[in-house]
Amino acid sequence: MNHFQYIDGVLHAEGVSIPALAEKVGTPFYCYSTATLERHYKVYASAFDGLDATVCYAIKANSNQAVLKTLAKLGAGADVVSVGEMRRALRAGVAPDKVIFSGVGKADAEMREALDADIAQINVESIPELEELNRVAIDMGKKARIAIRINPHVDAKTHEKIATGKAENKFGIDWTRAIEVYRMAAAMEGIDVTGIAMHIGSQLTDLAPFREAFTRLSGLVEKLRDEGIIIRNLDLGGGLGIAYQGETPPLPDAYGQMVRETVGHLGCHITLEPGRLIAGNAGVMISRVMYIKDGEAKRFVILDAAMNDLIRPTLYNAYHEIIPVDEQGEKDKQALVDVVGPVCETGDTFGKDRKLPDNLQPGDLVAVMSAGAYGAVMSSTYNTRALTPEVLVKDDAYAIIRPRQSIDELIGLDRIPEWLD
Ligand code: LLP
Repeated sequence: MNHFQYIDGVLHAEGVSIPALAEKVGTPFYCYSTATLERHYKVYASAFDGLDATVCYAIKANSNQAVLKTLAKLGAGADVVSVGEMRRALRAGVAPDKVIFSGVGKADAEMREALDADIAQINVESIPELEELNRVAIDMGKKARIAIRINPHVDAKTHEKIATGKAENKFGIDWTRAIEVYRMAAAMEGIDVTGIAMHIGSQLTDLAPFREAFTRLSGLVEKLRDEGIIIRNLDLGGGLGIAYQGETPPLPDAYGQMVRETVGHLGCHITLEPGRLIAGNAGVMISRVMYIKDGEAKRFVILDAAMNDLIRPTLYNAYHEIIPVDEQGEKDKQALVDVVGPVCETGDTFGKDRKLPDNLQPGDLVAVMSAGAYGAVMSSTYNTRALTPEVLVKDDAYAIIRPRQSIDELIGLDRIPEWLD
């Protein structure tokens, strides 16, 4: 459910008309709905009512300060994967004791800053990283609270680039070696073993892989207890999918029920790290049609947005619905078109053989749906295209939460070595 709807024939974000926004902000731009963000967070969090659970929003999905603050105000914690993300989360008001630092490789400086900030937990993903964290913590006279990320060797049945729980993936420590590594960690002076972490992949549309992984995790916790290693926190990662193209992913309540069934009896604190589910359908990318080009084989609708603004279609063959901002277009005769951007690559395609109005004109606006997660955060400046602005809407109000970068600012980042002067 989201708050992007046609009102009087025109697409609105909550109470704000998209064409009016486009006039003010220019195109392309990202537009997020506060009501949708809040609703998704609340629905997800309430699936764990009665459990001792913290929702640590995976800020990699959308880390704009305004988005983070919106969620922090509802009590969200944050899952971060770099010192940059950690600073973003803390600056937006997320309490340090609700910040989890994940990721396959943390630099010394990142470990130091995390220990200084006294965040809740650092998730360790390899023995060398564990040894390094131990050294850093001892050097600082601290004990690092850690979870070890375990790779359960479970196929999440999602796109290969976002599956993380299989033996061939780079993530975590193989579950077959878990006990040995926990023993090692428990003996380290700078390490306080508090948890166990898992994240098997993203955009899962079925509960079965989660169930398999969490059952494995539960067995491990019991084995560790037998060894005298007490696990207090289970970090179950994110991964619950959303509907991009008619998928019917399990609802948060069903996911919550499965969590209860698989790990509820362990009496542990539970951390959840949803990203896409919170932000994905809370955002759209608005773009203007620049040209309509009738080729020999195809009609191309050339937008002013490109793959640098939204990389998901070309990177993962991801489907994003594309709709006209003027509702009449939905009712007019439709044409099958390829929707593309102006970047000089064939992969700069948002959708192939899409139904859009036959009379779509240059100047018309389209909305690329479900772009709130892994959209703006993955944008680049390829082809010297400045970063796209982001707008947050709340009821009838809007705010530009990241202004459009100017091309001069972008070029101004370069430095000329003195020998070229
Ligand atoms: N926790 C960890 C440790 C993660 O690595 C991720 C995502 C999440 C939580 C959040 O997962 P989510 O609930 O959003 O599925 N760029 C890709 C998605 C990459 C996900 C990476 N890890 C995409 O656009 O589909």
